[in-house]
Amino acid sequence: MVLFPAFTAIDVFGPLNALNLLSIQHNMTLAMVSHDMKPISIDRTIIDGVGYGNLASSASPFFTEYVLPSHTFDNATDFDVIMVPGGGGTRNLTATQPAVDWLSTQLGDSGEEGWPSYVMTICTGTALLSRTLKIGGKNATTNKAAFNWVKTQQGAQDVNWIPRARWVVDGKLWTSSGVSAGTDMTLGWIEHVHGRNESERVRLLMEWNALDQEDDPFADYYDL
Ligand SMILES: *[C@@H]1O[C@H](CO)[C@@H](O)[C@H](O)[C@H]1NC(C)=O
Ligand SMILES: *[C@@H]1O[C@H](CO)[C@@H](O)[C@H](O)[C@H]1NC(C)=O
Ligand SMILES: *[C@@H]1O[C@H](CO)[C@@H](O)[C@H](O)[C@H]1NC(C)=O
Ligand SMILES: *[C@@H]1O[C@H](CO)[C@@H](O)[C@H](O)[C@H]1NC(C)=O
Ligand SMILES: *[C@@H]1O[C@H](CO)[C@@H](O)[C@H](O)[C@H]1NC(C)=O
Repeated sequence: MVLFPAFTAIDVFGPLNALNLLSIQHNMTLAMVSHDMKPISIDRTIIDGVGYGNLASSASPFFTEYVLPSHTFDNATDFDVIMVPGGGGTRNLTATQPAVDWLSTQLGDSGEEGWPSYVMTICTGTALLSRTLKIGGKNATTNKAAFNWVKTQQGAQDVNWIPRARWVVDGKLWTSSGVSAGTDMTLGWIEHVHGRNESERVRLLMEWNALDQEDDPFADYYDL
């Protein structure tokens, strides 16, 4: 799981809640990967106690929770699955550049063959992957409230953006719509890898009302 300041909580912890339950039955390892080992603020960019960015326009600039990484971009490698969350922090191109550079390295230079088995983005996390310039020609989706912004990001002109989808699968690339959609996608991925019974076990433990891949009520709401 890739981390950067001001990621969105559910983008990370919805999927991880499902994977935590999956890991009861399957031997899995997890890395929470960031630029350095410092605690990372959620939904606000706060580094060493100093707030950055558009916090002044927020009624509560220091309303946050912190997460501790387990790995840095320097010592994290060889993953089967990479997940990239979104959030307000994706709009800070400077703060997210280390994540983009690391993703670019993980994807390699030999096309999809050289990728990890699954590269998954939640919400505006797709914008970070687009900036690697390595998902050109791929079908992908992203947060519907931020759809038109993501389409302006570097590399985005080469992506086939799918406006109506809870999540999109194109080869090794799995991309989801906004926030809660990442959890639906993760349940879909558990079904893909371990079968329907296992995804249902997890979903029922979470008491989660999952939407299907094609079921996207938010595309209409956002006029896409
Ligand atoms: C899980 O896999 C790791 C190696 O990836 C191994 O060291 C460990 O013993 C395994 N744990 C169980 C409970 O099988
Ligand atoms: C982006 O984050 C950096 C820290 O990496 C900070 O110095 C800068 O002020 C932030 N910019 C905006 C517009 O938030
Ligand atoms: C990665 O490196 C940091 C120091 O840069 C260290 O604190 C951390 O424990 C390392 N993580 C692993 C899993 O080796
Ligand atoms: C990509 O999306 C197009 C529709 O825009 C569809 O026809 C095509 O089958 C999709 N490709 C993959 C690999 O899913
Ligand atoms: C899935 O669950 C059903 C009902 O509990 C059971 O009959 C079936 O054998 C299970 N399938 C697999 C592949 O485990």
